[in-house]
Amino acid sequence: MRVLITGGAGFIGSHIVDACLAAGQEPFVVDNLSSGSPKNLPSTVRLFQVDIRDQAGLQRAFSEARPEVVIHQAAQMSVSRSVREPAFDASVNVLGLLNVFDQAVRVKAQRIVFASSGGVLYGDVFTPAPEETPANPISPYGISKWVGERYLEFYAREFGLTGVALRYANVYGPRQNPHGEAGVVAIFCQRMLAGESVRINGDGKYDRDYVFGPDVARANQLALTANIPGGFVALNIGTGMAVDVNTLEGNVRAAIQALPGDSNPPPPEYGPARAGDLRSSLVDASRAKNVLGWSPTVTLQEGLQRTAQWFAQQG
Ligand SMILES: NC(=O)c1ccc[n+]([C@@H]2O[C@H](COP(=O)([O-])OP(=O)(O)OC[C@H]3O[C@@H](n4cnc5c(N)ncnc54)[C@H](O)[C@@H]3O)[C@@H](O)[C@H]2O)c1
Repeated sequence: MRVLITGGAGFIGSHIVDACLAAGQEPFVVDNLSSGSPKNLPSTVRLFQVDIRDQAGLQRAFSEARPEVVIHQAAQMSVSRSVREPAFDASVNVLGLLNVFDQAVRVKAQRIVFASSGGVLYGDVFTPAPEETPANPISPYGISKWVGERYLEFYAREFGLTGVALRYANVYGPRQNPHGEAGVVAIFCQRMLAGESVRINGDGKYDRDYVFGPDVARANQLALTANIPGGFVALNIGTGMAVDVNTLEGNVRAAIQALPGDSNPPPPEYGPARAGDLRSSLVDASRAKNVLGWSPTVTLQEGLQRTAQWFAQQG
């Protein structure tokens, strides 16, 4: 099967590429390399360095790749940038998304799998939120993910393709970019390995649902072929387990200390709370289990160990 992955040179996208190769499929990547890197990809994988806002470039990539299925990961994914520059956010996350969907229709792809987000749709939830939870996105980024889902539902109905929106929880793992504002695990790993103290905002009692990147890639892989009655579905992808930042800091510290050598990161520093940070964000992935046969397989301890090892190898 020919699979085109937008954002495939990024963190989650590159794990999806690995999963496609392991399944004997032929992955193609479209990425403008704004945060992704060719280093995340095996040299055998065809990379089209194209921005999804560039209709002509996208058309050339789709004509060459002729994908049977499309996995759309490329996005402007900074919540704070979306607040500062809503029009830029929409140019990538809405108009760029429509360019990708239009190309999928043009080359007669049968299915589109879309990276949505549980956290930004459900807001503060203190028990794992099922998909029926009313969406209440408050940032332009969250609004664009919600709109992206609605467009996918429309394209599925209008053009007879299948649409699967995967609403990720907090994804972490090897290859995550530690330079952004999100990706707390990547940031903690990098700072602790450099012997620097990490900064915890507020009292650190902010619960999140951490799911390992390769587990998320497997969900995408299953979404390519699962039977989807009605042609469209939204599925949560997470563990449903709450871990606060204080606990996470201790777990990342333990993973770093377990590496060869005698790394002993300094204690964390506490700073002011960040305005707008949710107290609790958890998703219930029961529907993904029913529809895809997916559930997470990697425990937080194991995932953090693998992530710490990867960051240590980067030097
Ligand atoms: N990481 C998380 O916890 C999380 C949670 C919920 C949803 N998501 C979604 O998952 C997807 C992948 O996120 P990630 O964590 O792998 O981030 P990432 O930054 O590593 O990957 C995004 C990729 O898209 C590429 N890209 C960005 N803008 C582009 C453009 N205009 N044209 C072409 N390529 C472009 C980047 O170069 C990068 O390779 C995104 O859609 C994101 O919104 C991520």
